[in-house]
Amino acid sequence: MLEKFTLIAPCHFGMEAVLKREITDLGYTIVNVEDGKVTFEGDKDAVAKANIFLRTTERVLLKVASFKATTYDELFEATKEIPWEEYIPMDGKFWVKKASSIKSALFSPSDIQSIIKKAMVERLKNKYNVGWFSEAGNEYPLRVSIMKDEVTIALDTSGESLHKRGYRKMTAKAPLTETLAAALIMLTPWKKDRILIDPFCGSGTIPIEAAMIGMNMAPGMNREFTAEKWTNIVDKKSWYRAVTEAEDLILPDVKMDISGFDIDPEVLKAAKANAADAGVLDKIHFEKRDVKDLRSDKSYGFIITNPPYGERLEEKAAMPELYTTIGKSFNGLDKWSYYIISGYEDAQKYIGRQADKNRKIYNGMLKTYFYQYMGPKPPRK
Ligand SMILES: C[S@@+](CC[C@H](N)C(=O)[O-])C[C@H]1O[C@@H](n2cnc3c(N)ncnc32)[C@H](O)[C@@H]1O
Repeated sequence: MLEKFTLIAPCHFGMEAVLKREITDLGYTIVNVEDGKVTFEGDKDAVAKANIFLRTTERVLLKVASFKATTYDELFEATKEIPWEEYIPMDGKFWVKKASSIKSALFSPSDIQSIIKKAMVERLKNKYNVGWFSEAGNEYPLRVSIMKDEVTIALDTSGESLHKRGYRKMTAKAPLTETLAAALIMLTPWKKDRILIDPFCGSGTIPIEAAMIGMNMAPGMNREFTAEKWTNIVDKKSWYRAVTEAEDLILPDVKMDISGFDIDPEVLKAAKANAADAGVLDKIHFEKRDVKDLRSDKSYGFIITNPPYGERLEEKAAMPELYTTIGKSFNGLDKWSYYIISGYEDAQKYIGRQADKNRKIYNGMLKTYFYQYMGPKPPRK
């Protein structure tokens, strides 16, 4: 059995530093940080722990090989050289689930997929001494990326994307992914002992992710991963150990002051159902409230929020008024910090204040900004 792995964790562009910190905190060694991905080293436990504990990666890939190829012959030969028998059992189902290519001679995803599959079949036929494969056993999906002719082949240990924690059955319009919501929270200095309000909470993603962070609840405890079935690569024990550790770390009684408001009672129903599924409903106060009525007599709180940004033309006309209201409401709070992710390019103009910091973030294909207005730190107790 293989003992050491190189693991690749893709993330939202701009969130690499947050993910790197998460991986270092888990105790693993970073090999490389590139745009949209962090590569690190780990053992079998790392495969399980990365899937269960990381909040800001989309999936965990187990790197099998990388090599240069500019022709399909080279791709075929180099793929055939890989010791696939160490990864894929005789009855394993294997295929290239996704191939991508940037600035490379080989660029057709379907050709890359079929050549790699052919080369793998060729290799495994020889090693297993069989003429064909039933592929009736466990699944071993592969992801291939070619960057400037450098081919990287990896097994996908996660399966369904890790932003699918399993709690969000109902969504609002334009929800944030769970991984992005977690990354945004982790970009701010918010900690569980500080007040947090999301005045545009929609299906509750930001308050729910914050509550999970505050409770130290691992995001992947309630879902499955493809690699759980790969007992030839990662023992069952590694998964048990990671889940037990995750359970032991939860702080069920932690006191937090987290609220989610929204103008739409239907999305609030979804938010509550999602929070209940995530096991954090008792940590969040949900309430129907228009942002114009946002008040607090407390100081030093945090707002982390994702307001509407007028994706559709008819909504766009309402944005100046909405962002003016946001400015009035947020600026009326005493010594608060607020963090707004929005695709509305005139956000700062109508809020009436330049953000202290601003960061470009791609939410899927959509260019958005994370406007950061930092309030003062509370005096030390
Ligand atoms: C982009 S969505 C938020 C999505 C949320 N982050 C999620 O993950 O589901 C914006 C939300 O703002 C709410 N909204 C619109 N106008 C509002 C207002 N004036 N006051 C409070 N909420 C409002 C909408 O009902 C919608 O749920």
